[in-house]
This record gives sequence, structure tokens and C-alpha cells, in this order.
Amino acid sequence: MLNKTMNTLQVNLSEHSYTIFFSHNSLEELPALFQQRFQERQLFFIINTIVADLYEAGIRSIFKASNNRLHIITIADGEDSKNLTTAEKIFTELIQNGADRKSVIIGFGGGVVGDIAGFAASTYMRGVSFVQIPTTLLAMVDSSVGGKVAVNHELAKNMIGAFYQPKFVFIDDIFLRTLPRREIICGLAEIMKYGLILDKTFFEWTAANYEKLFSFDKTAVEYAVRRSCELKAQVVEKDEKENEIRVILNFGHTWAHAFENLGNYRILKHGEAVFVGMLAASHVSWMNYRLNDEEFKEIEKTLLTFLKEILADKDIMQFLESVTWDRIWSKMLSDKKASQNTLRWVLLNRIGEAATEENIDPARVEKSFVYLKSVIRKTDHVIHN
Ligand code: NAD
Ligand code: GLY
Repeated sequence: MLNKTMNTLQVNLSEHSYTIFFSHNSLEELPALFQQRFQERQLFFIINTIVADLYEAGIRSIFKASNNRLHIITIADGEDSKNLTTAEKIFTELIQNGADRKSVIIGFGGGVVGDIAGFAASTYMRGVSFVQIPTTLLAMVDSSVGGKVAVNHELAKNMIGAFYQPKFVFIDDIFLRTLPRREIICGLAEIMKYGLILDKTFFEWTAANYEKLFSFDKTAVEYAVRRSCELKAQVVEKDEKENEIRVILNFGHTWAHAFENLGNYRILKHGEAVFVGMLAASHVSWMNYRLNDEEFKEIEKTLLTFLKEILADKDIMQFLESVTWDRIWSKMLSDKKASQNTLRWVLLNRIGEAATEENIDPARVEKSFVYLKSVIRKTDHVIHN
């Protein structure tokens, strides 16, 4: 019987609407959720090696008495496995194990697994049902909601994909307990993004309370995850296919994707790159007379708290120091958000309000790159154990 007290949020997208379930250490609710929706259909969980070591046995045991036949497809860990080669391996295992049109594909993991599982679901037999069970903070607050599914191309990130909404999202905070500190920081990048583009109060709450997320404070985690999902859902409901307002969710991401790609998806994690990108994008906003001095300083101070820790990694530091303007600029021009060599920039008017602008003089953007490099060089690094 389904726990009637589980908190939910509805994402309203006409025939693609779905529910996000917010659960607290209640994984045993999962079989009932699947049976209600999918009766006796086969379930194909896509997981990676790290999540398999931690949770595969538990998931198998929870589903032991279920009418749904469970299959688990394991892929390699890491952003550099989010590609067509891994997608092909998934398709092979689906075919070998008799996946049919009624089968359900479940992304059980972080954003990498969610994105590639969703990509597989959107294309296998022209589309089968898809469910997201995010296990990282970043996936809980961002990638599991909104239906963007994709794999990377060697030349550019998330270049091959679709908009394909899940049938439901199941978020349980128990998974955060095994998540390394570095991954919590990655999730914080997207949480801070929502505050910066949409909700000043949330930004200030996060700046004051982020430590509580590292100690898994139940109330703080619940609030941060739910508020992020609410803000994302509000934007996606207005513009599912990113024709207009949804683009603001990419604040800092043109920079971030370029840095990730230049590091062959191995040096900066996505959330870390988003921190770097949001600082650069805030500087561009300030240079373009949108953001005032006081708010730019407030953002800089807050983002640097996290960048100090990110830059303590020698490989990241050396990599960022090695990136030249010409390389980052040409990579930014190959981003999905570029059209006919014009970039659509997401900028801040103020904390809590974003806007887009095209045709910013590249010389101005280069000044923000020079600023970024100088900040990186000057920042004292903080190492947390
Ligand atoms: P990730 O999926 O690589 O996960 C981070 C690390 O945590 C991995 O090593 C993973 O194995 C490990 N992990 C996962 N769950 C764990 C757990 N409970 N305990 C311990 N370790 C665990 O990275 P991510 O930050 O979750 O996601 C980043 C990806 O998400 C990028 O590819 C990015 O492009 C994508 N993304 C997509 C969207 C979207 O709307 N579709 C939005 C934001 C980001
Ligand atoms: N992460 C950007 C989006 O979902 O639109």
C-alpha cells in the first residue's frame, strides 16, 4: 500500500504531465509505485558500476516479491561514458533481454545515467516508458526533472538528444548519505543557479544554509530539493521545448559546457564547471550594466566559497590556467545555444531575475574571461577532508 504521506509535486505538461515523489528513506515504496502504473511490465534499470556496488543488492531485494520482472543494465561511471557507444551497449542488452514496447527504462543514478537512460528510452523502439530515480543531489534538483535527455559528442556536450518526459520521478534523500562531498558541491551549483535566476530569497537561504546539506539536515535537504524542483517545474511548464524562457536554466552553462568539453569531460565535473560558468556569466552581466556593483560582489563572494574548494584540485587548477581565450571562445560558439555563430547569453538583471541577450561584443566577453583567470590565480584554496 502506498504511503499516503509522501510529499509530491505535479509537473503539468498536458499529456506529458507527471508526479515527482519526495521520499525519506522509503525505497520500499517503489514496487507499489511501479505496479500501480506498469502492472506486470518488464523493468530495465540502467545503473553505473559505483551505484551498482552501493544499491543493486538492495533494489533486487526490494523488488523480490514484485510482479514486475527486473533487469539491471550496468554501464561505466563518468561523464566520458555518456556517449553513443554506451547507448549502443544499452540497446544491445535491451534486445538480448527481450525488452519490448511495454518495457520501462529506469535511470537509476546521477545525471549521467539519467540523461543516457532517457536517451535510450526515447529512441528504443521509437520510445518506451521512462522513470527517473536520481541518486545525486544534482540529479535530484535538476537533471531528473524537465525531460532533457542526451548523450555527448566528442565535439560538443549534450549534442544528441531529445525532450522526453519521465512517467514519474522518485527522489529519496537516503542516497545522499553515500555521496562524496565533491558531488554535494556539484548539486549546490544548480541549487544556487535557481536562486540567482529566479528567487533571491532562495539564493540567500542557500548562501546561509549550505553547510546543512553536507550534514544531511533533513529539513534543509527537503527544502532545497523541493524548492529547486518547484522552480524548475514552473519554467518547464511554461516552455517545455526551450523556445523561450527555459533558456534561463542554462545560466553559466555555455561557459560550463565549453570547459567540460575542453577537458574531455574528465577534469571538471558538470556542477564544478557550472560554478565557474556562473561567475563568468555574472561578470558579463555586470560588464553589460545589468547587475549592480553590490549584487555582483555578493554573488562573487558566495560563488568563491565553493570555487576555493574546487580549485584545490591541482588538475582542475592546471587545466583552467591552461585554457586560452581562443579555445574557449571557439568552443562556446559550437554550443547548442549558438545559432548562426551568435550566442544567446543568459544574464542577470539582478539576483533573482534573468534575461537573455544576443550580440554581445566578444571583446567584452573576453574581459570576463580575463577576470575569471585572474580570480582563479588569486583564489586561496581550501581543502576539506
Ligand atoms: P554523475 O551522474 O556523474 O554522478 C556523479 C558521481 O556520483 C558519479 O561518479 C556517480 O557514480 C556517483 N554517484 C551517483 N549516485 C551516488 C550515490 N548515491 N552515492 C555515491 N556515489 C554516487 O554526475 P551528476 O552531477 O549527477 O550529473 C551530471 C550530468 O547531468 C551531466 O552529464 C550533465 O550534463 C547532466 N545534466 C542534465 C540536465 C538535464 O536537464 N537533463 C541538467 C543538469 C545536468
Ligand atoms: N538544465 C537545463 C534545463 O533543464 O533546461
